[in-house]
Amino acid sequence: MTVPPHIHERHQQLTEDLLQHDYQYYVLADPLISDEEYDRRMRDLQDLEEAYPELRTPNSPTQRVGGTVTKDFPTVRHDVPMLSLSNTYAEDEVREFHRRMVQELGTESVEYHVELKLDGVALAVRYRNGEFERAATRGDGMHGDDISANVRTIRSIPLKLRSEASPPPELEARGEVLMFKEDFAHLNSMREEQGEKLFANPRNSTAGTLKLQDSSIVAQRNLRAYMYSLVGSGPDIETQADALAYLQSCGFPVNPHRRVCERIDDVIAFWQEWDEKRDSLPYEIDGVVVKLNKLSEQNELGSIARSPRWAIAFKFRARREQTVLKDILFQVGRMGTVTPVAVLEPVLLAGSTISRATLHNEDFIRDLDLRVGDTVMIEKGGDVIPKVTDVLLEARPANSPPFSFISHCPECGTALVRPEGESAWFCENVECPAQVRGRIEHFASRNAMDIEGLGEAVIDVLVHEGLIQSYADLYTLASRRDALEELERFGSRSVENLLSSIERSKTQPLERVIHALGIHYVGQSVSRLLAEEFRSIEGLASAGREELMRIDGIGPRIADSVLRFFTDHHTRSLVTRIVDAGVTHAMEDPTTERIPFFDGRTFVLTGTLASLSREEARARIEAAGGKVAGSVSKKTDVVVAGASAGSKLEKARTLGITIIDEDEFHSHLSEHIHGTNS
Ligand code: IVH
Repeated sequence: MTVPPHIHERHQQLTEDLLQHDYQYYVLADPLISDEEYDRRMRDLQDLEEAYPELRTPNSPTQRVGGTVTKDFPTVRHDVPMLSLSNTYAEDEVREFHRRMVQELGTESVEYHVELKLDGVALAVRYRNGEFERAATRGDGMHGDDISANVRTIRSIPLKLRSEASPPPELEARGEVLMFKEDFAHLNSMREEQGEKLFANPRNSTAGTLKLQDSSIVAQRNLRAYMYSLVGSGPDIETQADALAYLQSCGFPVNPHRRVCERIDDVIAFWQEWDEKRDSLPYEIDGVVVKLNKLSEQNELGSIARSPRWAIAFKFRARREQTVLKDILFQVGRMGTVTPVAVLEPVLLAGSTISRATLHNEDFIRDLDLRVGDTVMIEKGGDVIPKVTDVLLEARPANSPPFSFISHCPECGTALVRPEGESAWFCENVECPAQVRGRIEHFASRNAMDIEGLGEAVIDVLVHEGLIQSYADLYTLASRRDALEELERFGSRSVENLLSSIERSKTQPLERVIHALGIHYVGQSVSRLLAEEFRSIEGLASAGREELMRIDGIGPRIADSVLRFFTDHHTRSLVTRIVDAGVTHAMEDPTTERIPFFDGRTFVLTGTLASLSREEARARIEAAGGKVAGSVSKKTDVVVAGASAGSKLEKARTLGITIIDEDEFHSHLSEHIHGTNS
């Protein structure tokens, strides 16, 4: 089938348009259209390519979403080897480096280009006639892996170079791929929920992601990149600063924090400045890189072994401190996991006082041969929690006994078990007070039933006084008002508040209820999947293994855990009790309960809503038949304005768009409830 000219033209238009918007968003950080509008145009392009597959080229923006599955990454040769940097942590050595430069170049006036040392994974990307051709890892410096399909999904990497820059027929740029700290934390919390192994830091998760065989998973991980070198030379490019400006004009992302320094003191000041400011960046850096700015001087010095002689990495000192391990405590989690915790002599580390650190499990303690009384090193990297990294054996007190893990639960005395293949010890007594408290705490927590006023301390008292033994007992507390009011520090006012927040929790959406139950491996996102699929607790409780496993994102481990939960007599009876107490057990069906006010209209949310999160508000609007857009335009029908709404509200006023507040929003939503129930 030949492609009609007008389709060709439309395809080309959409392609350029989407590439431009990737550039606006990811390189310039200045999006011009909403995410919804972007998705719409992307879908248009996908539809065109569906109808005319010959339009689908490897560099079409549709390839950003991935789909290619690579079995083994082909090895490619780097025509110009990818070097590494010699590095130092000491100011003296940086001054020594400067003296060497002065001596070898025979001039006092040496100019440096100083950049951030990005803590990610090195990448080489090649373009032919302005089009993305190939991307490769560093490998051993001479040969790397061809990871083109994965790199195409990184939105800041151009698929076509900007023609204004008149790129040469062949161009290779090198840089660093990274994962933002926020995306890393999100990824790890998802993995934790799914019971998968966690990544140690953003660099490891970047490396792991780039080596995935399925590029559509890579696409979801939101990798970023900054380019820091241009291979070869170009017209009017005499310095590293020129090269970066040129890369930027081609459409590459280039890190904005860089400086040309004419004095070594300025180089050191840049290093100091960023050592202090590094936590304010959304990604991790581990130092600065000092390079000779003039390319002619770089060439003159060349390289030895695998590092250039014209550059040095000036790294930040790890945030390490020495302290004493005073004791090892054991915490029992709601699932019965026993976690050892280090009690440390308080010490100031990167701005905060540290007196506790997790010791993970028995093997961790054994591998370090950690003993109470030991002098230990603790370390903090980025925004990660502190960890014990070393023991100073020379400071160990004489005759200190090796540490042995406890054999019985510190809370209930039950003998602990360590199942084969697991690193943790468990207390298997489901009635263990620590587990009971932990399950109730989880049930009431912010991301679950969100019961205000029911924190750790209150739960401790209620369990201790025998007023509650499980989360189901919370819904019988209203009949124990007198007993509650007699408790120390519980006035009638606080009892009233507590009981009404328990009452309010009954209307939490199904996905929160499922999360609150505390089923092993079922966290927030799995709960959402289950709620969407089964639409009621009864539906979920009667689901079979096959039915569970049919859901994308649910494997045998989660399915078995759900089945175990609902076949266990004890947990099942708790569920029956909360349902009988009136906890929501159904979900509104978005396809059948449209509300005229919302149906087919486009909404924009702005400001903070007191009663709902953005996500919940969006879900309600969508369930009622509406759409939610990210920004206000002429196509917006209604703006829902919460507290401290800003520029979107202004814009809506200018455009004369209907604006409603939170109360009006709720009354429109309930119009529907009355409508369907009457
Ligand atoms: S230049 C020939 N600049 O650090 C020098 N590298 O061992 C090539 N890195 O593998 C590197 N930020 O992955 C350079 N601004 C930067 C960098 C940087 C991070 C990485 C790079 C390299 C390693 C050095």
